[in-house]
Amino acid sequence: MWKIQDHLTNKNGVLHIGGVNTIKLASKYGTPLFVTDEKRIQKNYNSLYAAFSKYYDKFQINYAVKANNNLAILRILRKLNSGADCSCPEEIFLAKKAGFSSSSIMYTGNYNSKPELEFALKSKVNINIDNLSLLHNLFDIGKPNFISFRVNPGFGKGGYRGLTLGGSKSKFGVSIRDAKNGFKLSKENNVKRFGLHMMTGSAILDNSYFKTITNKILDIAEDISETVGIKFDFINIGGGLGIPYNPNQKPLNINKIGMEIGKLFNRRLNNSNIGKPSLMIEPGRYVVGDSTILLSRVHSIKKTMKTFVGIDAGMNTLLRPALYDAYHQIYVANNLNSRTMETVDVCGQVCENTDIVAKNRKLVKIREGDTLAILNTGAYGFSMSSQYNSRPRAAEILVSGGKSDLIREREKVTDLFKLVKIPKRLRK
Ligand code: LLP
Repeated sequence: MWKIQDHLTNKNGVLHIGGVNTIKLASKYGTPLFVTDEKRIQKNYNSLYAAFSKYYDKFQINYAVKANNNLAILRILRKLNSGADCSCPEEIFLAKKAGFSSSSIMYTGNYNSKPELEFALKSKVNINIDNLSLLHNLFDIGKPNFISFRVNPGFGKGGYRGLTLGGSKSKFGVSIRDAKNGFKLSKENNVKRFGLHMMTGSAILDNSYFKTITNKILDIAEDISETVGIKFDFINIGGGLGIPYNPNQKPLNINKIGMEIGKLFNRRLNNSNIGKPSLMIEPGRYVVGDSTILLSRVHSIKKTMKTFVGIDAGMNTLLRPALYDAYHQIYVANNLNSRTMETVDVCGQVCENTDIVAKNRKLVKIREGDTLAILNTGAYGFSMSSQYNSRPRAAEILVSGGKSDLIREREKVTDLFKLVKIPKRLRK
């Protein structure tokens, strides 16, 4: 028996997740099927928590709901004492439904509408502001007792095109000047608690980058504390912790990152008037990314100029390869021991030529009827899937203690039109 990862094992040539046979799962629940290992999420969360809290005691993780918003997954994280990072009222609603308390939820929207701000205020969650005009709109609605600003420090970094979220071309965050004016105005409006936030990129595998952004946010916090005369309840350095998707990529050294940032916090806060803020991070991918595989059946193999392996999970099920040219490792779940290799394109069934899950990929020889496992699909997998080409969305399974539970039913054809209304004149 060999392992791909702790939770992904090879037993007699068949891939098992959390000890459960993936071929049996595929035949019981059908494909495409997202299968998540509960223990892996717990392990990811706990190791992240330990790495930082060892060096800085006021440490909090706010799981980024957008990465995977399944209520069962949210409940796993709530039980681990995570907070929640929500990007819209609907995510706040989901987080509350999963049992997160208002005070453990931070709302970081952008270009929010007034009704959205009103919902957040009524929900009593911590509001993180992305534009000075939104602060004015918020004060028009009511009196928050907490305000945070998302600052754009003028730079960012991202693992793919489009995933750099800071810098001059970014639509996110406010300038330091606007943040200062916003905090001044908040102080005048009797706001008592303050936070500072930065989220400058996603899928980052550069260990040293996290220290760089922490130094930067502490510089900004010191400057604001001095000029505005406020102390901070928390400093949030965002998410962005990457995971290796490609076997050539090295995982982050999370213990080193936690140690460097924790020590930096202790040292710099001793010589500043920022206060004793909590250190917050809001990872999505790092917590859930590698917990999930996507099982998909091979229906048809076509040999033209290339070999196309046609599976039932395409860009409608997993958008990342088509959108970012993202790489996801693939295994033939029912034939792990084969040695015969072939270079193929793995494609979905959508009528788009960008519907390629893997390009020029060397895999063991695949036959029609095989089941493929696409790895690292726990973050931005189901949450970015669609019904394009009138395909109902996939089902989701959670495995734990050698057992499987359905945590989201497969959509049916009726789900494609249940909200549609046909005007009377078109009914005959
Ligand atoms: N906080 C904020 C404000 C965010 O916008 C995001 C992600 C996160 C936290 C979590 O970032 P993470 O730790 O997962 O990197 N669809 C892309 C990822 C987009 C990330 C957008 N914001 C993908 O499939 O890779």
